[in-house]
Amino acid sequence: MNVGVIGLGYVGLPLAVAFAEAGDDVIALDVDPIKVSAVAGGDSYIEDISSERLRAVLPRIRATYRYADLAKADAVLICVPTPLNDNREPDLGPLDAAAKSLAQVLQPGQLIVLESTTYPGTTRERLMPLLESTGLRVGPDINLAFSPERVDPGRTDFTLGNTPKVIGGITPVCLDRADELYRRVCEKTVRVSTPEAAELTKLLENIFRSVNIALVNELAMLAERMGIDIWEVVDAASTKPYGFMRFEPGPGMGGHCLPVDPFYLTWRARQFHMSTEFIELAGKINQHMPYHCAERVEWALNDVAKPVKGSRILILGASYKGGVGDIRESPALRIIEVLTGRGGIVSYHDEYVPSLPGSGLESVPLDEAVAQADVVVLVTAHPGLDYGEIAARSALFIDLRGVTRGLQVENLVRL
Ligand SMILES: NC(=O)c1ccc[n+]([C@@H]2O[C@H](COP(=O)([O-])OP(=O)(O)OC[C@H]3O[C@@H](n4cnc5c(N)ncnc54)[C@H](O)[C@@H]3O)[C@@H](O)[C@H]2O)c1
Repeated sequence: MNVGVIGLGYVGLPLAVAFAEAGDDVIALDVDPIKVSAVAGGDSYIEDISSERLRAVLPRIRATYRYADLAKADAVLICVPTPLNDNREPDLGPLDAAAKSLAQVLQPGQLIVLESTTYPGTTRERLMPLLESTGLRVGPDINLAFSPERVDPGRTDFTLGNTPKVIGGITPVCLDRADELYRRVCEKTVRVSTPEAAELTKLLENIFRSVNIALVNELAMLAERMGIDIWEVVDAASTKPYGFMRFEPGPGMGGHCLPVDPFYLTWRARQFHMSTEFIELAGKINQHMPYHCAERVEWALNDVAKPVKGSRILILGASYKGGVGDIRESPALRIIEVLTGRGGIVSYHDEYVPSLPGSGLESVPLDEAVAQADVVVLVTAHPGLDYGEIAARSALFIDLRGVTRGLQVENLVRL
């Protein structure tokens, strides 16, 4: 087969590589010339795909920024961003742009699949009319489906291949064709009746996480006031073999998904005269967490008779989660901003994030910075560091991820 992938980010590049590994020819398209040249040169910029893995299938991947190249594709997967605009409403600009460019080269017989996370109705009401503006009809001429990407960057136990792929087609034939396509790279597919059901499935998964993270974050703030160790409570509750699922408190949510996707549904729900209160409340609590954590730093410094102003504060981990370099919506950015605004001398160490655009900060060498810091704040726990050992040699160590639980030392404060 000849498979086109539009948008070579965290979702698109792994898909392109998976199809190439399955023996398909891949047309990998992005509007970002830096990404196109990196892929063409076999240099991966996504942690989950090593450059060696990319290079091994490079003969089957054609990197391009020209939509005309997609005319040869049997199937085209759209993996462009779906962000929020400044009013926190869905910004379908990248999807519209991709669909309009694709429409210009659309061929009879092609299967188009949208993978980007979005509100129910996007595939049918937004994407389909743009594709049909060519005169080609979904059903008789082309096929259209939605299949949400479930990739969890940095994860190795569940990957594209062994995570079931949910698919909803506009027509039964659309569904059959998309199913056949994904079975080339996924062990299991899950067929649902409509694209809307598939769109809402993805949102349910993300909202489920967001709401449960907010719940445990709220309890963490309460437990702190009550003098109870929330980590001990989460560990104990997790021993229940049924009816409980572990979620951990932390400095807030980051990445392109959890802080953004639920609000696609909130926006859509308003058109159905519903307000999605769980989503709003979860968003409110999770957005407050970086501010709460900055306050924890302030209190901890106060306890050792130091103000934030003039104190040297070292942030460990700037990306939004361990093992990846993605800083989108990372709570570390907000914590750095707040503490810098209060006069703290803030630096950070993160081997995955060499510099923080906009702040002028660059990752500093760990040992020297720990020795000099008045307080070390663990915001994101990357693998490979011994945080107990770092805590032991810090003047004051604040653990926002619970990785030091079990350690009882005086200079240690946990969320
Ligand atoms: N990152 C994740 O973990 C994850 C997981 C599941 C679902 N998703 C969803 O998948 C979608 C893509 O996310 P991502 O993290 O891969 O985004 P990303 O920003 O990493 O990659 C998107 C790519 O699309 C390109 N692009 C933008 N407009 C384009 C256009 N008109 N034509 C061609 N290319 C264009 C960008 O240059 C970028 O390289 C989003 O809807 C996201 O919510 C992401």
